[in-house]
Amino acid sequence: MDISKVFKNNEKWISERISEDKDYFKTLSAEHNPEILYIGCSDSRVTAEELMGLEPGEAFIHRNVANMVVSIDLNVMTVINYAVTQLKVKHVVVCGHYGCGGIKAALENKDQGILNPWLRNIRDVYRIHKTELNAITSEHEKYKRLVELNVQEQCINLIKTAAVQHADHTRGIKVHGWVFDMETGKLIDLKIDFNKIIKEIEEIYKLES
Ligand code: CO
Repeated sequence: MDISKVFKNNEKWISERISEDKDYFKTLSAEHNPEILYIGCSDSRVTAEELMGLEPGEAFIHRNVANMVVSIDLNVMTVINYAVTQLKVKHVVVCGHYGCGGIKAALENKDQGILNPWLRNIRDVYRIHKTELNAITSEHEKYKRLVELNVQEQCINLIKTAAVQHADHTRGIKVHGWVFDMETGKLIDLKIDFNKIIKEIEEIYKLES
């Protein structure tokens, strides 16, 4: 790939935007009030704004390998705290995807060096849901279910944070678990029953100020 292509594309994008609205960049640079925090995978095929049909300014984005919400990852925790307490986003989304290399790697018993501690978070998801996963005979279906359960567990990790708990009590922030199916382009809402989950775990994770 000729990297200069990126700058040519950028020029083209600027002229397209300005032709539609001459004040586009003036408006864009004035402020942003995104209503969605999107946490997705770094995979190049799983774009954020494009698959949701959103414009610049509409979504606050964090991407990492396998869309993880790890409590000691200062990066993702900073994004969550800033988006929830300062930007006051109304929705927090964890979006996984079928065909995720991070999930695949976690299913293999291979020493991945520096990736091991990151992948272990996914292996922990497997351990929590071992009974359900081991009952699935098709390896492909088991893998797809782990993608979904990983999204669910990362949503639960969001609910464990003081920032999300506070925003839930004071203004009813919504957490969503989605999966992107690259083979069809479809975004699937996993319709996770958070009320049921919260009832089960709040005695352990509730944080009172
Ligand atoms: Co991925």
